[in-house]
Amino acid sequence: MSNPYQTAYERSLSDPDGFWGEAARDLHWYEPWTKVLDDSNKPFYRWFTGGMVNTCHNAVDRHVAEGRGDQAAVIYDSPVTGTVKTYTYRDLLDQVSRFAGVLASCGVTKGDRVVIYMPMVPEAVFAMLACARLGAVHSVVFGGFASSELATRINDAKPKVMVSASCGIETSRVIPYKPLLDAAIDMATHKPDRVVMLQRPQAEATMIAGRDVDWAGAMAAATPADCVPVLATDPLYILYTSGTTGQPKGVVRDNGGHMVALKWSMRAVYDVKPGEVYWAASDVGWVVGHSYIVYAPLLNGNTTLVYEGKPVGTPDAGAFWRVIAQHKVTTLFTAPTAFRAIKREDPRGELLAKYDLKHFRALFLAGERSDPDTINWARDNLKVPVIDHWWQTETGWSIAANCMGLHEFPIKPGSPTKAAPGWDLQVLDESHEPCPPGKVGSLVVKLPLPPGTLPTLWNADQRFIDSYLAEFPGYYKTADAGYIDEDGYVYVMARTDDIINVAGHRLSTGAMEEVLASHPDVAECAVIGAHDALKGQLPLGFLVLKAGVTKPDAQVVKEVVQLVRERIGPVAAFKSATVVNRLPKTRSGKILRGTMQKIADNEDYKMPATIDDPGILPEIEEALTSIGYAKGRKGE
Ligand code: COA
Ligand code: AMP
Repeated sequence: MSNPYQTAYERSLSDPDGFWGEAARDLHWYEPWTKVLDDSNKPFYRWFTGGMVNTCHNAVDRHVAEGRGDQAAVIYDSPVTGTVKTYTYRDLLDQVSRFAGVLASCGVTKGDRVVIYMPMVPEAVFAMLACARLGAVHSVVFGGFASSELATRINDAKPKVMVSASCGIETSRVIPYKPLLDAAIDMATHKPDRVVMLQRPQAEATMIAGRDVDWAGAMAAATPADCVPVLATDPLYILYTSGTTGQPKGVVRDNGGHMVALKWSMRAVYDVKPGEVYWAASDVGWVVGHSYIVYAPLLNGNTTLVYEGKPVGTPDAGAFWRVIAQHKVTTLFTAPTAFRAIKREDPRGELLAKYDLKHFRALFLAGERSDPDTINWARDNLKVPVIDHWWQTETGWSIAANCMGLHEFPIKPGSPTKAAPGWDLQVLDESHEPCPPGKVGSLVVKLPLPPGTLPTLWNADQRFIDSYLAEFPGYYKTADAGYIDEDGYVYVMARTDDIINVAGHRLSTGAMEEVLASHPDVAECAVIGAHDALKGQLPLGFLVLKAGVTKPDAQVVKEVVQLVRERIGPVAAFKSATVVNRLPKTRSGKILRGTMQKIADNEDYKMPATIDDPGILPEIEEALTSIGYAKGRKGE
């Protein structure tokens, strides 16, 4: 039966130029595009070629010019510092244009890169928009990454300037950022000319004369800078995400297609109207933060929330309800893990009774698989639709969703509903043949991808092809496995690579293995993602020690845990490892990580036919049981 979703979906695939060209009229263009979809250099498809735009103008200036100057643009709500502060669109314009002036005075011009390493403070949003204003390319690095991860990103992006803050606050712990930043710059072969530092009173940073610039002082002296028109196809940002090795992938986002898709998504996917309050409880360091804390809500003239706190512990499991009630939030977007944390502390949702959530309309979940228990708990307690939607850093917005602004489909828990308009989503088997409904295969998207998705990887066109396009020619490989049922509902089951998802954070087990392997006592190692009731998955290491190591096993485990924290960061949440005599392998030498994961999760498994030594699996089971996995798992 036809409905607005069906009509939009069909048109987006049969007439992409007409569909996205119409959506683009909702934005301000200095020069119109010459082509909506440019397929002249396949497989590098581009959107809105020839068009001239500025993302900051569309997110900030135009709203002031069109009468939204007094509306709240950004609300900073920080239970960890006891602060609530509102910035109107006029205030936002003032902050952003002045910070663009600061960056310009540090030598930043169109095309230069700026690395931003900041906690959840509004200045992070100002810095991102200021880059967009100048046509500079920002690369935000999540605060939970260690210095060496930051150094890798500095070397790849080669920023002229870095922007940071003196500290972050994790519940009640103050984490000084400046020593991490200084160490990263020391490690990096590329050196930024300037570092702009936001001093926070919780931990003031020591400044390096000649390189470091004080945020407040520079803002006071700044001359506001105007928007610089850029090509729609020019890069807006680079966001590094985990790949299968320690070298992260620099996902590139353009200006034109990104704005068109995100603004369209606010109405079509989230059903949010300009002026309403929209809250993505994530971090600006992740794609959810880029798309739905910063760009999409501001492009759509919404009020967005910058929340510096956790779902629990700041101060309690009612924190989200307090924020929703206090700021009249209509739509919340977060990761299922946040709701699992709330549910664990307040299983009956009793704290909800303290708050008036009458403005609250819908909860959107993404970042990891939404388990039906969490969805049902949220729906029963909040009494609003709970919408699972599926996307990736690479895609920038949802591949599959219940598009609430087009047509609300009945929810099937465990499914992010249907492919969104623009996405020709298919399931292919190992011989690249389409799978019938219900059969699990590789989830792939027939090219071209819609606007807003990655056009390439930063300075790595071949890696882009190798990573995403080579395995299924003519398709983008999502690296997720799943199926589509007879009603067109999509089910995302598991990654097909070694990426794991820890509290909605994407991590590479390959990168962790590289760290473990660098320990002088480790001969061989493997890392898997074991099930965790709160975080979805947690990394779990297996170590085979070199002959002659006399150190106690527990000491080596302690040292590798510390090494991962130092090299990747606390966000990896790598806390468990076990020493074994051998790793289970196939006769051709491939480590049987899938079997190890099933054993760790205490699931039934079949003895792999290709295993070289079946006797090893009981040993693995015993080692895991002794550290609380496998048969040692407690009831959850
Ligand atoms: N700066 C410095 N350290 C950080 C950090 C940051 N920005 N963010 C996290 N960390 C640290 C944490 O303090 C923790 O350190 P620890 O090992 O010393 O305790 C570690 O990294 C792991 O953090 P996290 O995975 O967030 O675990 P947590 O126990 O602190 O909180 C949840 C668990 C579920 C409450 C939390 O993950 C959460 O709120 N998730 C919400 C969903 C979300 O933000 N998803 C992102 C994508 S949508
Ligand atoms: P990231 O790039 O960090 O956003 O992580 C993307 C990955 O998270 C996807 O490839 C999926 O494996 C997983 N993911 C995100 N959203 C969902 C969802 N709604 N359901 C299942 N998996 C999801």
